[in-house]
Amino acid sequence: MGPMDLPPRLLRETILAGGELHDELPSTNSHALARGLSIEQVPYLVWARRQTAGRGRGQNQWWAKDGALTFTLILEPARFEIPQSNWPALSLCVGTAVCLYLQRMQITDVRLKWPNDVYVNSRKICGVLIESIPHRQGQLAVGIGLNVNNSMQSAPTDLQQRATSLCDLLGEELPLTSTLVAVLNELTGVLQLLGRNPAELPPLWRHLCWLTGRTVTITDAGHSRTGQVLGIADDGALRLWIDGREIRCVSGTVEIV
Ligand code: BTN
Repeated sequence: MGPMDLPPRLLRETILAGGELHDELPSTNSHALARGLSIEQVPYLVWARRQTAGRGRGQNQWWAKDGALTFTLILEPARFEIPQSNWPALSLCVGTAVCLYLQRMQITDVRLKWPNDVYVNSRKICGVLIESIPHRQGQLAVGIGLNVNNSMQSAPTDLQQRATSLCDLLGEELPLTSTLVAVLNELTGVLQLLGRNPAELPPLWRHLCWLTGRTVTITDAGHSRTGQVLGIADDGALRLWIDGREIRCVSGTVEIV
C-alpha cells in the first residue's frame, strides 16, 4: 500500500513543508535515504505507524511494537543558520528537544544520554539515528523513535528493565499526531537556538546530562576507550577523563561501566 497524506495539522502547526504517512515500513530512515533525491519539500516527514526493521546506532535495533512514534525528518540545518561545524551539537539538540517535550508533559527524571538518547528513571524512552543523505549535501535524515503508546508490559522481559514508554509513565495513551506536533515544535525551537543563540544550550545540557560523573566506555569507529565523564563541552563534545587527562569525543556510542 502506498503512503497516505499527513494529517493536515502537521503541515499547519509545524515547520513541515511536506511528508508522508505509512501504515508500515521497514525503516523510516532507510525510506528517507532512498527517497532523498526526489524530495523537494524540506523539512519533510516520513512517518510510519509500524516499522518492521527499525535501525539504531551501532549494533542497536529498534524494538517493533505498535504505538511507538517512529519517524524521520529530512532537514537542512542551514535553514536554521546552523553551520556544518555545528552538526555534532545538532545530534545533542534532537535529544534535548525530546527531553524538553517530556518535561512539559510533567515527566520527572528525564535525562539525556550523550549523544542523543533519552532516558527516564534510567530506562530508555527515545533513540535517535541521524544520517547523511547520499548526494544531498546539506541535508540530514533525523530518525526518532519515541516510546509513546507501546507499553513495556508486553515487551520481552529484558527490555522491561531497560525501556519505558509515555503510556507506562502517564498511565494513559496519547494521541500520536498531537505528540508528533509537540515534539517537532520543540525540535524547531532548539534548532533555532543552536543557530541563533547557541550559548543558551550548554546550561541545558549540563542540567540534563545523565553520564556526568559516571565511568563509561565509548566506542567510535571500532576503537573503545574507558574513562570518567566530566560533562558536555559547550560545542556538544563529551568530555572524558582518561589516564590523568581530558579527552574530547565528538561521536561514538556510550556504555555505562
Ligand atoms: C538507537 O537507539 O540506537 C537509535 C534508534 C533510532 C530508531 C528510529 S525509529 C525511526 C527511525 N527509523 C529507523 O530505522 N530508526 C530511527
